[in-house]
Amino acid sequence: MRQQRLRPVLLLIGLLSFLVPHSPGYGGGAMAPFARIVPSAAAAAPTTPEARLRDAVTKRVTTVLRLTSDLRLTADLPAVTCPNLTVTGNCRTVKGRSRRCKIDGRKRFAGFFFMREGNLTLSNLEVTGFASKSGKDNLFVRSVGGAITVRNCLFTKNSGGVIDVTTGYGLKVEGSSFVRNEGGVINVAYSTMEAKDVLFQANTGVTAIGLVRTGLICRRCVFENNTAQTQAAAVGVGSAGSIRFSRCRFIGNTVTEVGGRGGAVIVQGSYGQFCHCQFERNTIKVAGGKTRIEHVYLNGGLGDFCEKVPSTGVNFDVGEAKVNCKSCPSA
Ligand SMILES: *[C@@H]1O[C@H](CO)[C@@H](O)[C@H](O)[C@H]1NC(C)=O
Ligand SMILES: *[C@@H]1O[C@H](CO)[C@@H](O)[C@H](O)[C@H]1NC(C)=O
Ligand SMILES: *[C@@H]1O[C@H](CO)[C@@H](O)[C@H](O)[C@H]1NC(C)=O
Repeated sequence: MRQQRLRPVLLLIGLLSFLVPHSPGYGGGAMAPFARIVPSAAAAAPTTPEARLRDAVTKRVTTVLRLTSDLRLTADLPAVTCPNLTVTGNCRTVKGRSRRCKIDGRKRFAGFFFMREGNLTLSNLEVTGFASKSGKDNLFVRSVGGAITVRNCLFTKNSGGVIDVTTGYGLKVEGSSFVRNEGGVINVAYSTMEAKDVLFQANTGVTAIGLVRTGLICRRCVFENNTAQTQAAAVGVGSAGSIRFSRCRFIGNTVTEVGGRGGAVIVQGSYGQFCHCQFERNTIKVAGGKTRIEHVYLNGGLGDFCEKVPSTGVNFDVGEAKVNCKSCPSA
């Protein structure tokens, strides 16, 4: 909203810089259309997509930023101090069709660091090149205390985690895909996560979604061909978090190290509900290099399945798996 209100003023400054090209004081206001006419003004402009993003995250009021071009970070983003920030991609293909805008961390830089109460909404973005390494977490989003919403985004070729949420209102993901990321995708602790129409495919390394004392609700999610070394390739839920999947599909998820458990899902000391879900070819490795079907492992956990418990591949140590359709959502 604010972004739009600012536009006429910037346009005027842009016009002035066009009329007074020798005055460096006005150069900063150059808008994209003028940059094309006066190429020299473009260099000084704080209106590059990255500069506009940096400006937006540190605003003190509700801010909506519409990106209209891809951006490659040249430094970590500053900590988000905006209490209610929305960043929406509004890019076009050469043929003028609407597409996501790409944000590339270039394997070096960190994205949104949100360390307070408040809301961050991200939509229509393609997120790539966020790569954490020892000593530096280059996550795309790290939130402590915030409410994070992600809509219609694609996350691909990131490594070492993409979204990390601790406490707060938690994480909501809708209509998005996480494809071919390495080393985990989402971690949520002491909070909640809701996912609707989300695809997790061909992610490698560790469990795609790791939860600690966190409730998860997943509707119409697909987990396909994810692989992890030691534990559940799709979702791992630890201590006191409860999870509910409804109309989800778990296909071809694999744990690759001998002794690893829960091909698709591991529930540790907590509760998992699977309403009208489909399980196919989720596997673990056993001694002798063989694979065995294991969709869900309940490690001191309880599992309710509706309409039925799969005839193979639901295993438990101390735990129980039973048929229970109570409190399954109807659609
Ligand atoms: C936060 O921003 C969103 C999107 O602009 C808006 O719908 C919502 O009302 C805002 N919330 C507050 C408390 O300002
Ligand atoms: C953030 O979202 C939560 C719940 O989603 C809402 O209760 C709260 O008012 C929002 N805060 C702002 C600043 O918009
Ligand atoms: C998943 O893996 C299977 C077996 O390797 C393969 O046939 C299938 O095409 C893969 N699916 C996707 C969407 O990559």
